[in-house]
This record gives sequence, C-alpha cells and structure tokens, in this order.
Amino acid sequence: MKDKIQQLFSETFSAAPVIIVRSPGRINLIGEHTDYNNGWVLPASIDKAVYFAAAPRPDNIIEVWAADLKDKDTIVTDQPQQRSATKTWVNYLRGMVAQLQLSGIKIPGCNVVVTGDIPLGAGLSSSAAVECGFAFLLCRLSGQEMPRKELALMGQRSENQFVGANVGIMDQFASVFGKQGHVIRLDCRTLDYQYFPFHFSGIDIILCDTGVKHSFGEGDSEYNKRRRDCEQGVAILQQHLPGIQSLRDVSIADFAKYKHLLPPVIARRCDFVVNEINRVEAACEDLLNKDLVAFGTKMYATHRGLQHDYEVSCEELDFLVDFASGRQEVLGSRMMGGGFGGCTINLVKQEGSAAFIEAATKAYKQQLNLPLKCYITHIEQGLDVI
Ligand code: GLA
Repeated sequence: MKDKIQQLFSETFSAAPVIIVRSPGRINLIGEHTDYNNGWVLPASIDKAVYFAAAPRPDNIIEVWAADLKDKDTIVTDQPQQRSATKTWVNYLRGMVAQLQLSGIKIPGCNVVVTGDIPLGAGLSSSAAVECGFAFLLCRLSGQEMPRKELALMGQRSENQFVGANVGIMDQFASVFGKQGHVIRLDCRTLDYQYFPFHFSGIDIILCDTGVKHSFGEGDSEYNKRRRDCEQGVAILQQHLPGIQSLRDVSIADFAKYKHLLPPVIARRCDFVVNEINRVEAACEDLLNKDLVAFGTKMYATHRGLQHDYEVSCEELDFLVDFASGRQEVLGSRMMGGGFGGCTINLVKQEGSAAFIEAATKAYKQQLNLPLKCYITHIEQGLDVI
C-alpha cells in the first residue's frame, strides 16, 4: 500500500509526498451498543486501513484526491466548513477541519491523496479511520502535537455534530489506540483502557461480510433511536435508583427488580445493554484464563440479545450466525458493529478455517442467493505514520 499511495501521489501532484499515514479499521470482539451507555467494549485495530499521503503547499487550500472514489474535494483551511448533502465522504474530512479550527490548531495548506482497503459499508469503521487519520495527518504536517485521546474525541464529535450520526467513542478510540496482537478493554465512561493479548495460536478471526446495508439503519437512524430508548429507560429507572447516570450503573439484580416498570420495548433494549456490559467484564476473565470456548459462548449470547432484544440484526446476519453455530470448528460468532448489515465476526479453529469459509460461502449463495466475502483478519498497530 505504501508504494501504491506514493505512486498515486506522484501521478496526481507531480511531486513526492513528505508523509504517509496509516489509519486502520476496527473489529470488536464483544461489547456492542455499550459505548454510548458508558459501558465497556473490546475492540482492536486491524490489517485493513485508510492511507493518506501528503505534502505541504504555500496557500490555505487542502486539495484531497480520493483515489478509490475518483473524486476530489477542496477545503479552505481558515473558512467555516460546509456540509455537503450530495458528496457524503467529504463531510468526514470537513468535519475534522471544523474540529481542528475550534481547537486552535493552525491548519496547513497541503495536497493529499487518500486510498485504502477497508471494505465500505462492512461495519469496519472506515469513517472513523478517515476522520482520525486526516486530523492526525494535518497535525503532523503542521508540527503540532495532538494527544491521541483528543484525536479520538474530536472524531466522535465531528461525527455527532457535523455528519449527524450519534455514535459512541469505540470506533475512533480503537483506530487511534490499537496495538498489534492486542484487544483494548475500554471503559467508555472514563476512557481508561487496558490492552489484553489476543494471539491464540491455531485460532483465526474471520469476518463474513453480508454485503448488505439495510436502509432502515440510516437517516434518523434506528441507531439514534436505540440511543433514545436507552436514555428513556435510564430516566424511568432513575426514579427508583437515583444514583444512576447511565445503564452502566444498573446492576443485573436491580434491573430484575425494576424492569417491570419500563414499557416492554424499552425493557428489552435495556435488558440487553445491562447484560452486555456485564458480559464484557466476564469475557475479559475468559481471555485471562485463555478460555476461548467460554468466550465464544458469550459471543453467541451477545448475538441473540442483539437479534431478539436490541433488534439491530437482520436476516442475513442471523443466517450466518446460525450457520456458524452448527460448525464444530467455530468457537463463537455474532454480528458486529451497529447492525442492520455489515459483518459477522467468528472465532474459528485454524485447521477448519478454509472449510468454514467455503461452506459458509456456498450456503449463503444457496439460501439467500448472495455472494459472501470472508476475510481472515489480523490485529495490527493503530493509527501512525509509516
Ligand atoms: C457503531 C458506532 C459505535 C458503537 C457500535 C455498536 O460502530 O460507531 O460507536 O456504538 O456501532 O457497538
């Protein structure tokens, strides 16, 4: 990729880049829809990434060539940033320029080429990778240091305020703080984090990409609605548990006691989240005990909760998890990320990986008449200059 982007840059701007940045996508082992409920998540940065190459220019213009989209954007560094209604990809860049302006950083004019190998719409957080990678690039070019935590928070704020998706902190944090061979246990309330080794010889992490992104997952999205459901649950529970600020503060025992006071749908949403937050903690114990069988069982439990209680799965994801659960080489499987499409994540015994991929691809084609893309993924270093 480094050679490729260097060449793309020379072809586009007839000069050599002075910096190349790699900003990876992420997986999440367990802890879904817990980040905006102040719980824990267990993500990692992966071997698929967005790459930026850049060189400074003497004016106040950033010219970005998106090589894969064959499209360009021109940003004026010291002007207010406008959202584009038609070219959505530019909003991930402009939103970060707006954030950098607020932070007081002097944004340098530059020529930029961006390319990458994160499949789009697969739920691997290409948007977080673009946001954080671009801001990191601009800070480096200008010789100013931005703390990594701030970079992740800026990415989240930009997505919330500029792009309009009310996402939590997980994706940006994972991309910025990733460490090769490790998952990150992130406490989304305090942003304290710990790395847990995740290299189990003989185990592959396989992503099965449904290739679908259902429309009910977009716009004033189901995602934003789930957030509101959780907030509504907290507001009702607070009348009986005055000390709580989020579902993170509700124990399983207290939830069982007060759950009947919630409207049924809200009760199911909160039920999932309260259990999922506890599951991440228990799953980390499994990792310390090197017990991937127990870990995998929890992944299935997560999926069933997302499917029936949180209702963010879909037919294609459910089919793949059901299929995986019948295969002896698979230790755990679940939908990953926001839902309504994207990938399942599967822990698979290496000796059975090829057979699993072949059988899943065949079954997916037979049952749903859709092509399945599978990726054996590796946990790689987070955002950095390469
Ligand atoms: C998306 C969001 C994250 C997180 C997940 C669900 O990826 O960007 O903040 O909420 O969904 O766990």
